[in-house]
Amino acid sequence: MIPYMIMAFLFLLAAIFAALEASFSSWHILPWFNGMVWLRIHFITIGVVTQIIFGVTPILTAKYHDLPRPKMRWDIWALLNVGFILLLIGIPLVNKVPIITGGTLIFSATILLFIQLASMRAASGKSGGPKNGRKFYISGLFFLLIGILVGTGFFTGWSGPLGIVGDAGEVHIHANNWGFLSLIFAGLFVDLYETWTKRPLASQRAITPIFWMITLGALALVLSPWLNDKNLAIVGSVLHTSATIWLLVLAIKPLWGDRAAWTPGIAHLLASYFWLFAPLSMAPFVIFGIEGVMPAKALETTTPQALIYGWVLQFGYAIIPYFYQRFFLGDEKAQLGGTWLTFALVNLGSVFLWASILIEPLRSPLHGAAYMLWILSLLPITYDVWQKTKAGMVQAERGVQN
Ligand code: HEM
Repeated sequence: MIPYMIMAFLFLLAAIFAALEASFSSWHILPWFNGMVWLRIHFITIGVVTQIIFGVTPILTAKYHDLPRPKMRWDIWALLNVGFILLLIGIPLVNKVPIITGGTLIFSATILLFIQLASMRAASGKSGGPKNGRKFYISGLFFLLIGILVGTGFFTGWSGPLGIVGDAGEVHIHANNWGFLSLIFAGLFVDLYETWTKRPLASQRAITPIFWMITLGALALVLSPWLNDKNLAIVGSVLHTSATIWLLVLAIKPLWGDRAAWTPGIAHLLASYFWLFAPLSMAPFVIFGIEGVMPAKALETTTPQALIYGWVLQFGYAIIPYFYQRFFLGDEKAQLGGTWLTFALVNLGSVFLWASILIEPLRSPLHGAAYMLWILSLLPITYDVWQKTKAGMVQAERGVQN
């Protein structure tokens, strides 16, 4: 697990500089450059969040199947990180060779992780019971495979041969967010909510219907832009949104009225979903191209940023420091990360990003300010992760010297 954490920390530092570039280019302090759109999103999505997911899901799945902690899979780690480095070269250059090679390596890493998690069930012969985030992880990885395929094909002309009739960018974003990350995050709730809150989710029987509603909702939301079928978008949005709300109700109900339970970490986890729902609530304006009421074009091109910084990164603020404390320092009593300051700054940043969509005359200054607020929210988290990484390395090296 440690090699994933070292790489995630490195890319967290790089994400700060990508966000700084995004802010300064909106304020016309620094020039825009090719690949900046990709870098400001993928240092977070692949470099940090996917990295941590690839590290923790085998450990959590083994734990809930009473299996020994799995050995470090250096092959999966190397394929993921060499693949990402090749994309970091290929995407800004828009060069097919490093893009296709990088995408193929990450695709292979995902397949190997998929097989590792799927085979864990057989080894234990145990179904894992209700606390079974595994099926969410496996379904999530299936959508990541679709996301990687379409993302790799984006600049290399694969969308046509793949039969994508509608917007390939939307297929990619939907597969990775409504599919991959929604399912992984739901799986983490299923496996760890009780550890985080010292009480169970409000219902265990609801977990399987939620699993199928998110999975089928995500499938419809991927097929909709793929086949350019708007009805699928409506079916998918309804299924996915109601399942996600149902999951949040299961998480909020046991905490209701218990002030002490509402830590910044829990607030980060739950409030982050507001920024998942926000783009969905705007979907009708984009789907039906209603320009007059909402700036549909600006919505389409800008909401992915609020999705990744407001939802994915904010969710990460809670779980990333937790996983470093839990698996780098071996602390079973690890707490969720984040503070009320990071909570205020990351959500204010998302408000500013949305304001930049809605208030056209102030679009650039607000967009730059949004990224500056996100950077300010990233600094305390990065410092916390650095402290844990440093302490973890001292502990690991002390182990070697003994
Ligand atoms: C091998 C892996 C991946 C490849 C090759 C890839 C490729 C791409 C490409 C080419 C774009 C278009 C960039 C542009 O318009 O300039 C893009 C956009 C995007 N990707 Fe990925 N991607 C990958 C993984 C992911 C993952 C894992 C996620 C999220 C979990 C993700 C989320 C996004 C988002 C949100 C955008 C829209 C960015 C924006 O428009 O601001 N991608 N990706």
